[in-house]
Amino acid sequence: MLINGFPFFKKKNQSTINHSELHLGVIPKHVAIIMDGNGRWAKKRGLPRIAGHKEGMDNVKRIVRVATKHKLEVLTLYAFSTENWKRPKKEVDFLMGLPSEFLSTYLPELIENNVRIQTIGDFEPLPSLTKQAMTNAIHKTKDNDGLILNIALNYGSRFEMLEAVKKIVEDVKVDQYPIENINEELFSNYLYTKHISDPDFLIRTSGEQRLSNFLLWQCAYSEFWFTDVLWPDFDEKLFEQALSDYEKRKRRFGGL
Ligand code: FPP
Repeated sequence: MLINGFPFFKKKNQSTINHSELHLGVIPKHVAIIMDGNGRWAKKRGLPRIAGHKEGMDNVKRIVRVATKHKLEVLTLYAFSTENWKRPKKEVDFLMGLPSEFLSTYLPELIENNVRIQTIGDFEPLPSLTKQAMTNAIHKTKDNDGLILNIALNYGSRFEMLEAVKKIVEDVKVDQYPIENINEELFSNYLYTKHISDPDFLIRTSGEQRLSNFLLWQCAYSEFWFTDVLWPDFDEKLFEQALSDYEKRKRRFGGL
């Protein structure tokens, strides 16, 4: 396969799932992943950055299968941030094409596996093809009650919170409720994530250890897990290692 004239080689060892015997007692209900390192993955191989994103998209398929296998309730993936528009247009266009490419080949398997597609982020500025593909997938999977695959597209936590504040102010202004009613629960209900629980577990690949404007409010008590492995190489075994590490965490939520 050629991407922009560069040969694109698929990794041999990640095309099929190795059904390991791992049995996990405690599973995080909601796992959020910052899929970082596609560009570096490509650079290491002398390929253009978009080849890394293509491989990153293929890895989403593999990781969704693992999430389904272990019966996670929600998997939120950071696919495009409000800051990613700053990248060169060619890369932005490529990233914007990934949801429709992913869904055009993979939606039947997602439907078969009872996966429900959702999205968080500012939907309006997305290209119409991206919006159409997502809207169609959301509609076609709306009655599924297995894994929620929540794709963060044009997502930025600060923007999300500012929009929530604006709507709350408007509602207070028209006397929908008094200012005293504003509490954590009410605020959460103004966020994109109002229908899903907060992430129990946040994974970031590629060695960076920061949140990059991802689910800042929702991650208040999430357990964090970092790996130097680049996203396209984050495989089933490593995901299961992360899940197994989660099992050992003691979550106290500020209590004893
Ligand atoms: C960060 O790596 C990655 C992104 C900005 C894009 C992530 C998108 C995917 C993995 C595919 C999305 C798939 C679907 C189904 C929508 P980077 O480019 O910042 O890597 P670098 O830090 O090595 O440069």
